[in-house]
Amino acid sequence: MRIGILCSGGDAPGMNACTRAAVRAALSKGHEVVGICRGYQGLLDENFFRPREGELLMHLRSVSNIVKLGGTVLGTSRSAEFQTESGQEKAAAILQKHHIDALIPIGGDGTFHGAVALGQHWKGQIVGCPGTIDNDLLGTDNTIGFATAVDTAVDALDKLRDTAESHERMFLIEVMGRHSGYIALYSALAGGAEVVAIPETHTDVPAIVERLKILKTRGKHSIMVVVAEGDESGGAVKLDASLKAAGCPFETRVVLLGHLQRGGTPVPADRILATRLGDFAVESILRGATGVMAGETRGELTLTRFEDTYTQHKAVPNNLLTVLQTMAN
Ligand code: F6P
Repeated sequence: MRIGILCSGGDAPGMNACTRAAVRAALSKGHEVVGICRGYQGLLDENFFRPREGELLMHLRSVSNIVKLGGTVLGTSRSAEFQTESGQEKAAAILQKHHIDALIPIGGDGTFHGAVALGQHWKGQIVGCPGTIDNDLLGTDNTIGFATAVDTAVDALDKLRDTAESHERMFLIEVMGRHSGYIALYSALAGGAEVVAIPETHTDVPAIVERLKILKTRGKHSIMVVVAEGDESGGAVKLDASLKAAGCPFETRVVLLGHLQRGGTPVPADRILATRLGDFAVESILRGATGVMAGETRGELTLTRFEDTYTQHKAVPNNLLTVLQTMAN
């Protein structure tokens, strides 16, 4: 069997570990692997990973020492052309032309929307792996890259706390996550933040200001507010303005972490998850699976229909919000 592999959408730490795992699992079972560069757009451009000039198939050594690398050696993209029906038909024809029987797309919800569309024009098997820092896909407890993104955000929070404490200031730190509050909630909890603003809950500005006043009377010198980019407040800059207008008792500064959270060396938890899922994706293909994402739920490896990974919002654990508030007292 010939298996294609690509990374699509935003890069996530651990995509390389997943690529390596899928390549090595397939090759060690006697199958062939074609690396597709720059995601679905690269497929349309027939931009294949070439171990040596003129060679199409990846070797065991093609993925040497990439388990520890951030980003993706295959490259990624967000392809407008692939979103059209003619783009999907063209992609299917290219897969056929190169005798590719199955595809492993590594990415987030956009990648899986693309996989479903491709499946309508191509008879090959498609088993995806969840590669996104957002942790917004149902069918896996954690997505590949989430743990590293939280680690990066917490590192920033720890540093900013030093300055906040020295100057008796409040920092508003905006983190990524698109429509999800996962990165914000987990980094707030691990970084000991006093307030978190996420899309899953109402951001009540007067109530936050009241709470800040109470915390000040209790002797808090510094405050960390973690804001998810998708929060209803409109992000950290806008929330800062609203809090000031409502009488915020602290001097404030705003930090947008942005794409800093996407890169960097994957933490061991991401490398392990990526390795397990890359291996499992190949195993699932060999067993005949298609139209599904490989995930890990409560320690078990699972397959979830692509459509079920993105049609509903993945709720954040509610009890964590309560724990955060208790800790911040
Ligand atoms: O999906 C990953 C993500 O980093 C989101 O958290 C963020 O909203 C988006 O991608 C940013 O996308 P881009 O890199 O295209 O600006």
